[in-house]
Amino acid sequence: MKVVLYGASGMIGSRILNELLARGHQVTAVVRNPDKVTASGAIVVKGDITDAASVAATAKGQDAAISAYAPPSAQVSLLQDATRSLLAGIEKAGVKRLLMVGGAGSLEVAPGVQLVDTPEFPAAWKAIALAHRDVLLSLKTSSLDWTYLSPAAFIQPGERTGSFRLGTTRLVVDEKGESRISAEDFAVAMVDELEKPRRLRQQFTAAY
Ligand SMILES: NC(=O)c1ccc[n+]([C@@H]2O[C@H](COP(=O)([O-])OP(=O)(O)OC[C@H]3O[C@@H](n4cnc5c(N)ncnc54)[C@H](OP(=O)(O)O)[C@@H]3O)[C@@H](O)[C@H]2O)c1
Repeated sequence: MKVVLYGASGMIGSRILNELLARGHQVTAVVRNPDKVTASGAIVVKGDITDAASVAATAKGQDAAISAYAPPSAQVSLLQDATRSLLAGIEKAGVKRLLMVGGAGSLEVAPGVQLVDTPEFPAAWKAIALAHRDVLLSLKTSSLDWTYLSPAAFIQPGERTGSFRLGTTRLVVDEKGESRISAEDFAVAMVDELEKPRRLRQQFTAAY
C-alpha cells in the first residue's frame, strides 16, 4: 500500500515506519527534519502537518495516511490545529483512510468514566490527554474512514512480540492492573488495522 506517515521520526512514528517497511509498504515519511529519519527504504519528505497545503501535497496519490505527530509539550493546543490541517489536507488530496495515534486518556476505566477524568491521572499529562480527546471528537464529525488507536497508559520502546490484546473504548490492563505496550507492538496493531480494517470510524486500543 502507498502510505504517508506524519511524525515518522518520533518514538512511536519510527516504530510504525519500521513495521510498514518490514511489511513491504511504500512509505512517504513526513517530518520537519528529514535527518532524524534513520530507517532506509522510505521516501523522506520535509513537510509540516500544521500546514494544510503541505499535507495535501504530501498526501496526494496515497492510499492511506497515518499520523504519529506530537505537539511541543509547552504548546499542546497545536495538536488540535495540526488535526484541522491534517483533515483538510488529506481531504483535499483525496485520501479517505486515516489512522491516528491517539491518547489513552479518553479510554474508560469504568462505564462513563474516562482515564483522564480520574483523580489519579498525572497532572503533567492532563493537557495533552484532553487535547487528544478533542482530536477524537473532531474525527467523529469528519467524513473520513478514520481509526483512532489509543496506546496503553504506558508506551515506550521495547520488544516486538506480536502478542498483545486489543480493546475498544475501555483501558486494557494486565493482572497487576497495569496498562502497558511497547511502541513496537503498538506499531504492529496499527499496521494490522491498516491492512485489514476492522475498526472503521472507531477508537481502539492495544495493551498486554
Ligand atoms: N499513553 C499515551 O496516551 C501516549 C503516550 C505517548 C505518546 N502518546 C501520543 O503519541 C503521539 C506520538 O508521540 P511520540 O512520543 O512518538 O512523539 P515524538 O517522539 O515527540 O515524535 C513527534 C513526531 O512529530 C513530528 N513533528 C513535530 N512537529 C511536526 C510538524 N509540524 N509537522 C510534521 N511533523 C512534526 C516530529 O518530527 P520533526 O520534529 O522532525 O518534525 C516527530 O517525528 C503523540 O501525539 C503523543 O501525545 C500518547
